[in-house]
Amino acid sequence: MKISINMKNAIIRIGQCIPRSIRSIMWKTYWFPEDFVNSLLGRKDELIPPKGLVFIGCGDFKKTGEEFFHYFIEFGELKPNEKVLDVGCGNGRMAVPLIGYIKGEGLYEGFDIVVEGINWCKKSITSKYPHFHFQVADLYNKEYNPKGKYKASEYKFLYENDSFDFVFLTSVFTHMLPQDMENYFSEIARILKRNGRCLMTFFLLNEESVNFRTFFASESLRA
Ligand SMILES: C[S@@+](CC[C@H](N)C(=O)[O-])C[C@H]1O[C@@H](n2cnc3c(N)ncnc32)[C@H](O)[C@@H]1O
Repeated sequence: MKISINMKNAIIRIGQCIPRSIRSIMWKTYWFPEDFVNSLLGRKDELIPPKGLVFIGCGDFKKTGEEFFHYFIEFGELKPNEKVLDVGCGNGRMAVPLIGYIKGEGLYEGFDIVVEGINWCKKSITSKYPHFHFQVADLYNKEYNPKGKYKASEYKFLYENDSFDFVFLTSVFTHMLPQDMENYFSEIARILKRNGRCLMTFFLLNEESVNFRTFFASESLRA
């Protein structure tokens, strides 16, 4: 177990040195046999992208979405008839569990800077659930969209003032720079209705988490 953590860290470090475009081809090639067999045997959930298309990180796609769905309701007080914006929606991991929940006057909007993710969401989600909308923002990000045309620090969200009850960003600010985040804070404030809510995730580096990391690293070094 401990050895596998060291191995995993080493593989991640090596992987980070390879350009994303090449990594993406390697990733798709790696998962191709499994994705192909699953699709051939009809062994696939239409609301889960093939593994080769998932670029948002490891972990169980469905379980992670369901976990956050509960946070949206518990901490975000999300109601079924509300208007929701998913900033940096990726492969639709957070959108999928909302499908059975958002109804009536309710509406879901998501945007991301990776075209492939948005295309999958439109094809697999919007085609069946037209109150779920997705769009691409062609913004530069060294990791996710190195050829992006525009700066996130100057991007104006394509939504009206005071139009959303709830905005969320899961694992998005962890991939952005301070001046980009500053602009997003102000855009979120602009598009949120009065009494609207926003849920965003961050890495919290305090004494407790830093100690935990140090402990975790030394434990795996002892292996
Ligand atoms: C770790 S993924 C998380 C995706 C999704 N929020 C989820 O939890 O499944 C980070 C996402 O942030 C997106 N992203 C990075 N910079 C962005 C920006 N300036 N605006 C919107 N999305 C961005 C990436 O394209 C990627 O989909």
